[in-house]
Amino acid sequence: MNYIENLKWRYATKKFDSSKKISSENLEKLKEAIQLSVSSYGLQLYKVIIVENSTLREKLKSVSWGQDQITEASHLVVFCNYTNVKDKHVDNFLNKTAKTQDMEIKNLSVYGDFMKGKINEMTKSESFNWTSRQTYLALGNLLSACAELKIDSCPMEGFEAEKYNDILGLSEQGLNAAVIATIGYRSNEDHTQNRPKVRKSLNELFEVL
Ligand SMILES: Cc1cc2nc3c(=O)[nH]c(=O)nc-3n(C[C@H](O)[C@H](O)[C@H](O)COP(=O)(O)O)c2cc1C
Repeated sequence: MNYIENLKWRYATKKFDSSKKISSENLEKLKEAIQLSVSSYGLQLYKVIIVENSTLREKLKSVSWGQDQITEASHLVVFCNYTNVKDKHVDNFLNKTAKTQDMEIKNLSVYGDFMKGKINEMTKSESFNWTSRQTYLALGNLLSACAELKIDSCPMEGFEAEKYNDILGLSEQGLNAAVIATIGYRSNEDHTQNRPKVRKSLNELFEVL
């Protein structure tokens, strides 16, 4: 199956078969797909929480518009952006770059100062929006990787972020639940799987200049 066929196969799963679990081997592949996601400057200003615990998921369902996927999917993935980006985030990245690419940290200082300057120019809300946008790139990769592995998924914004932040103790870690995804295996009873995709035509969607 090629990439386009995979994308046609996937759909936003409404009903998961709760008896089917993603293997730990496949879960590792999905984690790697998220890890390899692009991010602005490569800073990866987010953390990804994988929730397996059923008690926690019951609590989270009650603040997710009661959507069944939260408890019925194999796993719940919560993409959390950092809410207050500091110089230390850039310094951690520079140290990792120097180590990984066998460079002297001092040779990265001009680039580091540039990044810090740009980041410090942002208002709190601009910075919040910027870091939350990064999580959607990781979400996209997760969805595509799931489709490749024939794992079903549903990207979700139908949840109360502040309640997630409380329940998962995110705020005290400087994190915010930006977007979530449920992943697992579709139930045969999910009739939405047979619905043709509703998409704009290529003509409507694209303009060539
Ligand atoms: C950011 C985002 C948030 C979404 N939130 C929800 C949600 O809370 N619940 C849900 O069932 N589907 C949700 N969806 C699924 C979309 O409705 C779905 O992707 C879209 O209608 C296209 O259909 P398809 O994914 O089946 O091709 C969301 C999708 C995205 C990208």
